[in-house]
Amino acid sequence: QQFVVIIAGGKGERFWPASRAQRPKHLLPIVGTKPMLAQTLDRVRPLVSAKNTYVITSAVQEDAVREVCSKLPKANIIAEPVGRDTAAAVALAAAVIAARDPKGVFAVLPADHIIHDAKSYQRDLKAAFAAATEAEVMVTIGIPPTEPATGFGYIQQGEKWKSFERRPVFKVKRFVEKPSLDVAKGYLASGDYVWNAGMFVWQASVVFAALAAHTPELNAGVAPIRAALAKGKPLGPVLKKIYPTLVKISVDYALLEKSANVVVLPSSFDWGDVGSWPAVPDHYPKDAAGNVSKGLAIIEQGKGNIVFSSDGHLTAVLGADDLIVVNTPDATLVAPKSKAQEIKLLLKRIEALK
Ligand code: GDD
Ligand code: MG
Repeated sequence: QQFVVIIAGGKGERFWPASRAQRPKHLLPIVGTKPMLAQTLDRVRPLVSAKNTYVITSAVQEDAVREVCSKLPKANIIAEPVGRDTAAAVALAAAVIAARDPKGVFAVLPADHIIHDAKSYQRDLKAAFAAATEAEVMVTIGIPPTEPATGFGYIQQGEKWKSFERRPVFKVKRFVEKPSLDVAKGYLASGDYVWNAGMFVWQASVVFAALAAHTPELNAGVAPIRAALAKGKPLGPVLKKIYPTLVKISVDYALLEKSANVVVLPSSFDWGDVGSWPAVPDHYPKDAAGNVSKGLAIIEQGKGNIVFSSDGHLTAVLGADDLIVVNTPDATLVAPKSKAQEIKLLLKRIEALK
């Protein structure tokens, strides 16, 4: 059987103050009118049934996630008691899928990407499912890079492996997670690297084999979870006990960088990981001076600003350029776009206020 597991436990800190611990980026309509998680659910609906669609989130977000996922069976929303990054979430996903179907094939999908061409996305994922069903491989989706971004994984595409649903799939020579700027520049210039879309399709058994080979401590860590599932026990208590002990590492570093059986399917859909405020203008209509705004906003004699204002509050910007101004009922951010990656410093200060 085929399954989809949406991982939606990220903190989305770079979108403060719109994004908060209980309501991070994927629960907000940063782009579009629905939360990004809801957009993700809409996109995968034609691929697998609700019964075979899971969402793994964190305990602090659970209530908000359940609201968005009201059409999924209640048991398909799984809350991690504490966040242990994506390798643990993927290991948990594999355990859940294997309990449903030992031969299960599942896609791990991020909850916070902007994709408009849902038809091509579904076609590519269908091909990825076919590839992962036929062979013991880790199927990744490759995105043509447009800049030397340092926030993505880079995949060096090798020779063609096979085609599925008339989509070519290539062998992968190398997977490098979040290289430095200099290295990323080299990859872009070489022309044989694509970005990792953060979507993976594989058999549960392939994930266990990779865990055993490359992260044995995580493999051992999820063993009690698998045992509990095999006995039909509820997940809550075992997760509470085991989760805090799991290693905190992303699936990219833990498995993809280390595995030899990675293949890549170049995407045919548009893709955006709206990672921080400066990525927002790519998805909004701009005024003549390149400003974007949401809510009640006036921008006079300024260019390149991003102004988000909520709850009927009027936010006005006069004679300033390239600012991020975000107004929410209890917090306001004013920062130059160039500082968008440093918002985490503010969160540390806010934490200290508590
Ligand atoms: N359940 C759960 N638990 N989900 C998590 C956790 C966690 O602890 N941490 C992150 N996630 C979810 C996020 O909500 C998001 O949907 C997805 O996992 C990816 O996490 P990010 O934190 O956004 O990863 P990234 O953007 O830094 O990097 C990944 O995605 C890039 C593409 O967007 C990597 O796979 C990169 O290689 C890739 O290029
Ligand atoms: Mg991301």
